[in-house]
Amino acid sequence: MSSYSEQTWYSVYDSVSVVQNALQGTVLYQEAPASQSSDNQSPSYAITQYLLREVPEFWRLPKLRQKAKCQKGWENPEGDQFFEKQRKTADNADKKTAKHFFRMMKNIGHDMHQMTDVFCINGLNPDKQAILDMCVAPGGFLATALRINPQARAIGFSLPKSEGGHNVLLPKHHNVSLKFLDITLLATDMGRLDIPNGHPDAGKFLPRQFSSEQRFDLVICDGQVLRTHERATYREHREARRLTLTQLALGLEHVKLGGTMIVLLHKVESRRYGMLQHLGQTICTTKLSMSIVWTLISC
Ligand SMILES: C[S@@+](CC[C@H](N)C(=O)[O-])C[C@H]1O[C@@H](n2cnc3c(N)ncnc32)[C@H](O)[C@@H]1O
Repeated sequence: MSSYSEQTWYSVYDSVSVVQNALQGTVLYQEAPASQSSDNQSPSYAITQYLLREVPEFWRLPKLRQKAKCQKGWENPEGDQFFEKQRKTADNADKKTAKHFFRMMKNIGHDMHQMTDVFCINGLNPDKQAILDMCVAPGGFLATALRINPQARAIGFSLPKSEGGHNVLLPKHHNVSLKFLDITLLATDMGRLDIPNGHPDAGKFLPRQFSSEQRFDLVICDGQVLRTHERATYREHREARRLTLTQLALGLEHVKLGGTMIVLLHKVESRRYGMLQHLGQTICTTKLSMSIVWTLISC
């Protein structure tokens, strides 16, 4: 059983202040605004209504989205320029920006832990504690996880810089093994041994990285598709799904019984993620007695 209280879920993690405020009861219940989903027959409308009823952290999300929309000027022509600048900064992150991102991820990890104990690994033998970070760079979550479990061993994957990936800023640590590769090419680990010769990535799929019995107490799945990632055109329209599914498939296969997964979602009320959460709940409550903590980027 994970340290995170009795298979509890955090269905929404927008920012810690949202969670805190919600838990402190400083937010009010509200109906989903029409702009969230105009079709009240749609699955995402039903999911939104359910989340508003059941998940206090969700209550403030529509307001925050609206605020972000106004601040970022989505309804304003200057918005395009703003986003163009943001994209450039993210794609060409200099050392200062990279450090800022690393600090930000550490802080988010710290705040999540304060509220949920999510990084705490329970185990009688600390030497056997193991962490898997599917998309580690810059390394903020892993830094937090290692601070809390200093004896744990960790494996972290990350997209190579030569393919558009980011630097890992986590200080070198003898218990940490970093592997720079595109995780969506781990076909052997995903059970695919029969890649057709004509496949556009035929020569690129990678050999096995995990042994079949390898298990981890904590699995972090917060990879995000990068614009800088150079990839074959056939991948373009489904890269986000490809990345999410790779992380979930490998994470679920290698998480220990009673372990914890941290999974990043982008739009928690979408049908796709609703189904994912339903699947996760089924796994948590019936099969693995494990915890999944969903984190959310809201916009
Ligand atoms: C939000 S960041 C992860 C933050 C990190 N977990 C932390 O705590 O600092 C998303 C990461 O996903 C990685 N990524 C995106 N596509 C990937 C792929 N196909 N294979 C491996 N890593 C990938 C990116 O390189 C990027 O570092």
